[in-house]
Amino acid sequence: MKRHILLGLLLSAVTATAETAPAAVTFEEGAVAQSLTGVAGDPAEGAKVMSNRALGNCVACHTVSAMPDVAFQGNVGPSLDGAAERWEEAQLRGIVSDAKMTFDGSVMPSFYKTGPYIRPGDAFTGKAPEGELPPMLTAQQIEDVVAYLLTLKE
Ligand code: HEC
Repeated sequence: MKRHILLGLLLSAVTATAETAPAAVTFEEGAVAQSLTGVAGDPAEGAKVMSNRALGNCVACHTVSAMPDVAFQGNVGPSLDGAAERWEEAQLRGIVSDAKMTFDGSVMPSFYKTGPYIRPGDAFTGKAPEGELPPMLTAQQIEDVVAYLLTLKE
């Protein structure tokens, strides 16, 4: 009986620390096979992150036809329509975490990396803020965005 309680405590401790820190993410040819959190992404939250200018602001550079209510979509990057047909989940996780691991020298920001990095708004000035900064998105926000991208099947 007691042993079961201990095991339960141990398991919850393991799950609580399951989040992968930015520096510990393993890329294989740009892809990240393992979930950053072990918690399934929520596509609805991912859509919010992508269209929110203070968060991912992906629409500043990409168009997404499935988001007709989001004004001023950009075309610096390709349209994300059908992304789920071009990329596997692991590849999308890699692109969203650090696009430079897939596209060498990309202007797309590295969203899951500790700074200094170039923020989307600074992309054209090339100015990076000084010092260590937290990642632009949390591990769960990355998973949510990946879950949303997986819904984009043309
Ligand atoms: C500053 C502009 C910029 C921002 C902001 C940006 N991207 Fe990108 N993204 C690009 C560019 C440019 C490419 C094309 C690859 C390259 O040459 O760098 C790209 C490529 C991609 C691709 C692969 C495109 C394909 O073929 O389907 C995906 C997926 C993607 N971005 C997702 C996102 C998501 C999700 C966000 C927000 C969390 C985001 N991007 C934010 C510029 C941007």
